Amino acid sequence: MMGARTRGRLGGRFWRRLRLVLIALGAALALTACADEHPLDTLTEAGPDAQEINDLFFPVLGVAIVVFFLVQGAIIYMVMRYRVRRREAAAAAADSDSDDFYGDEDYPEQVHGNLRLELAWTIIPTILLAVISVFTLISIVELNEVTAAEDDLRVTVVGQQWWWEFQYHLDGDTSTPPDIVTANELVMPVRQQVPLEITSRDVIHSFWIPQLNGKRDAVPGRTHPWVIEANEPGRYMGQCTEFCGLSHAYMRMYAVVLEPAEWEEWVQGQMVDAAPLQPGEPGYDGQEVFLANCANCHVVNGVTDVDLDDQLDGMDDYAGGNTITSALVAGAAPNLTHLASRTTFAGSIFELYEDRAERIPYLEVAVRGDLNRGDLEAWIRDAPDRKANDADGARGMTAFPGLTEGEIDALVEYLMTLR
Ligand code: CUA
Repeated sequence: MMGARTRGRLGGRFWRRLRLVLIALGAALALTACADEHPLDTLTEAGPDAQEINDLFFPVLGVAIVVFFLVQGAIIYMVMRYRVRRREAAAAAADSDSDDFYGDEDYPEQVHGNLRLELAWTIIPTILLAVISVFTLISIVELNEVTAAEDDLRVTVVGQQWWWEFQYHLDGDTSTPPDIVTANELVMPVRQQVPLEITSRDVIHSFWIPQLNGKRDAVPGRTHPWVIEANEPGRYMGQCTEFCGLSHAYMRMYAVVLEPAEWEEWVQGQMVDAAPLQPGEPGYDGQEVFLANCANCHVVNGVTDVDLDDQLDGMDDYAGGNTITSALVAGAAPNLTHLASRTTFAGSIFELYEDRAERIPYLEVAVRGDLNRGDLEAWIRDAPDRKANDADGARGMTAFPGLTEGEIDALVEYLMTLR
């Protein structure tokens, strides 16, 4: 009687708990579906390197699943098969002289060691792991293989708190100043391997565009080679994947992959410096605001006259342990020469245009896109409110409480001339 009631109560509690767990699991699954349209998706590879990784991952996952069910199945079988049944336990307790519910003499014979079993569960995993490690080593070697020619495009990737800079070397020579410097959007030609040289200006970051390749750390004072390649044009999301300070989660990026003709057009456009505006020209007032407030950190080629060499020196300074300020004065904030040609800003956490970039050809967003004025102005007004800075305020964009709304409007008008 007592036993049955206890079992009923225990059973009720079990089912209530199970229901809770299932509801929590369901909610978690539903929440993951709320992710952005561009998830950090490792499962739908979009390039040969990501393919290489998944060609290794899925077979290993298959083996792991088989092992999981074999081991868990064996455990569950043992537990069920050899559990102490209530009736047996009661009989044993009734028989026993001692107070023990289930005395020593009632245990089954204890077995110590079984040579054949021991050999089996040592040799089988050893073979499995050896086979997996061989395939893993082959994949690692192939992932690092550079098939691009010496004089093909190379990009230096510079991580910093909390955005990515991309320095393009069109002739593949990374020892000379870059031809193009841009931020947050790694524009690249389709079906062409793009070798990268990844480094950092401050702390350790990690470069990761999961649909194109795995992760590679960005370490100050070091250069790590990496490659990416995409099979189809499109916009592929990336994210810093090494915790690097308060706004680590807001250190995103995109690879923007273009057809060869569009890629050529983009390169030609980016090679052109901005022309300084003259009094009376649309945007001139904003240019004045820009020069007075933003040009300490942001470069507009042709307007702020900061030498790209200085920029690179600033990076070396930082790696050499010099102050944060020296790197900032050297122009260590996103280069804004062609800001309006990009689709995102602030470490790619905001869209620059209302109608998402992919509905408009990438090269036309600056002309046809509807400016996301709300986020852009809020960002200029009080960036730390949108994206936390370090406590000392030295990293990340500062707030500009001194700017009037009129000045902000003028500044935005100017920024939108930077195509
Ligand atoms: Cu940069 Cu995390």
